[in-house]
Amino acid sequence: MKLPVYLYGHPVLRKQAATVTPDREGLSELLKNMFETMYASEGVGLAAPQVGLSERIVVIDADPVGENFPECAGRKLVLINPEIEVLDGERVTRGEGCLSLPGLSENVTRTEHIRLRWQDENFQPHEEEISGFLARIVQHECDHLEGKVYIDHISPIRKQLIKRKLANIVEGKIRVDYPVRFAPRARR
Ligand code: NI
Repeated sequence: MKLPVYLYGHPVLRKQAATVTPDREGLSELLKNMFETMYASEGVGLAAPQVGLSERIVVIDADPVGENFPECAGRKLVLINPEIEVLDGERVTRGEGCLSLPGLSENVTRTEHIRLRWQDENFQPHEEEISGFLARIVQHECDHLEGKVYIDHISPIRKQLIKRKLANIVEGKIRVDYPVRFAPRARR
């Protein structure tokens, strides 16, 4: 089942998400729905707050960008309670978008190499060093679990320049070709 994607301006995107425990009911159904939602909107990652659930759950399928970024080829991940450790100071700037901010793309500077610790859908622990665009996707999605979105990383000047576009999302004055949930104060 496709779930509506909560858009920028909705308070759930600004909450610190809660740790998930093995007794969480309906997890496999939720993961299935999150993948379906992500594929339908042509995203490569989706975090639970984006479907209105303030829980530390992320799905990623980076394979569609595998031609440009070999580290992404064949990488499909379920991240429960992920934790990121920065490995060194190298930072790279690239364009990013987000299903919660339709029609926008901005350059974001992020750490190139991370160590990721997470649990899978069976709550088995994993640890891996990840680099490049896959590390970027992971950082973007994990930001959602802290109540952050990628435009929080852009300069005040740049943010000023896209102010009208952001307001249009918050106010519900945009068209989106996947199911969405606007902020409560949107005038629809
Ligand atoms: Ni996002």
